[in-house]
Amino acid sequence: MTYAYYKEVFKNESMPFAYLDKDLLDLNIKDILVRSGNKKIRIASKSVRNKWVLEYLLASSEQIQGIMCFTAEEAAWLADEGFDDLLVAYPTFHDEDVRKIIPALRSDKTIYLMTDLDGHLDKLQDIAKQENVVIPVCLDMDMTTRFPGVYFGVYRSSVNNVQSAKRYFDKLKTCPNLRLGALMGYEAQIAGVGDNAQGKSIMNGIIRMLKKKSIKEIAERRKAIYDMALEYGFSPEVVNGGGTGSLETTRQEDCVSEVTVGSGFYASHLFDNYKIFKHRPAAAYAIEVVRKPQKDIYTCLGGGYVASGTFGMDKIPHPHLPKGSKLVPNEMAGEVQTPIIYKGNEEINLGDPIFMRHSKSGELCEHFKELLIVSQGQITNRVPTYRGEGKCFL
Ligand SMILES: Cc1ncc(COP(=O)(O)O)c(C=O)c1O
Repeated sequence: MTYAYYKEVFKNESMPFAYLDKDLLDLNIKDILVRSGNKKIRIASKSVRNKWVLEYLLASSEQIQGIMCFTAEEAAWLADEGFDDLLVAYPTFHDEDVRKIIPALRSDKTIYLMTDLDGHLDKLQDIAKQENVVIPVCLDMDMTTRFPGVYFGVYRSSVNNVQSAKRYFDKLKTCPNLRLGALMGYEAQIAGVGDNAQGKSIMNGIIRMLKKKSIKEIAERRKAIYDMALEYGFSPEVVNGGGTGSLETTRQEDCVSEVTVGSGFYASHLFDNYKIFKHRPAAAYAIEVVRKPQKDIYTCLGGGYVASGTFGMDKIPHPHLPKGSKLVPNEMAGEVQTPIIYKGNEEINLGDPIFMRHSKSGELCEHFKELLIVSQGQITNRVPTYRGEGKCFL
């Protein structure tokens, strides 16, 4: 899609605003279904943060089912709003937060809570017993790989081999109000680390080599822990793995019943840097040119939505359209002013938009109350983000 196309579509909108191009989203969905092979797809809601989009994705294919939530409060809210099969991917510890999901469990909704430590199980067992319910739990299997001098992965779960899984299963056997409904292993170092960054060919090569070794190891670990769960007599209905960046490899593991996808739907720019897939920039935001301090410089109002995680250029928003626009190295994207260098052929006047892409898909929605849905040259809908619904989970 061109600068002229979006400029025309949004000519009456005041800025800033965020949009979702449904035509590009549909193409991303198509590609993601193919990339996931015969695995079911669970939507990572943190990378979507919009109820209308969640509903749209679930309705788009039977292969897409279930939501990976980021807090228990969010899961309880989504259950109230009619969603089901909600897996909370990070531990919930505060009593009040755990209790938020109990009404949904009582009305036969499925919400899994994440665990790996005795402390998690003790807390959930206590509350489940007091409330006289059974809480479905998910074991988070650590999927990191250790190379000499490199911790390749994320610091999350303590269960990283069959011995620690055995300890977890022994403990779980002593918790009558908990049920092992799911296993999850998120290989962040494969799914979330790009291996095709521009101008970094040596680093890309190293990452690809580490990934190759890690993929083999984690497949074996996931299978070994899954087999052990079965030996213990557990029968988890969900074995979840992966993320947008690892579908081609996670889908090859027989024991995996479903993959997770979030970021690939909007396709924020962090996901441009993978060798084996390319999704389309479906979501972006517009900032307004309000100054022209000198030739080829267009200063816009706002725009500085920097992403979480390690700091670096890959966390800064990227000018998207018109093609060839760049940030000013000494200023980057600012809280109130973002100067853009543009030397191309588009005529840019005061009041015109510059379209920007966020580094992370879901975080974009924390800065806007709604997404403008665009299709075939029209704004077809305006749908509230989580933030627009007054919800701020994380
Ligand atoms: C547990 C878990 N699974 C899967 C994902 C993948 O999400 P996405 O497809 O948005 O990269 C994430 C992202 O951080 C995650 O934390």
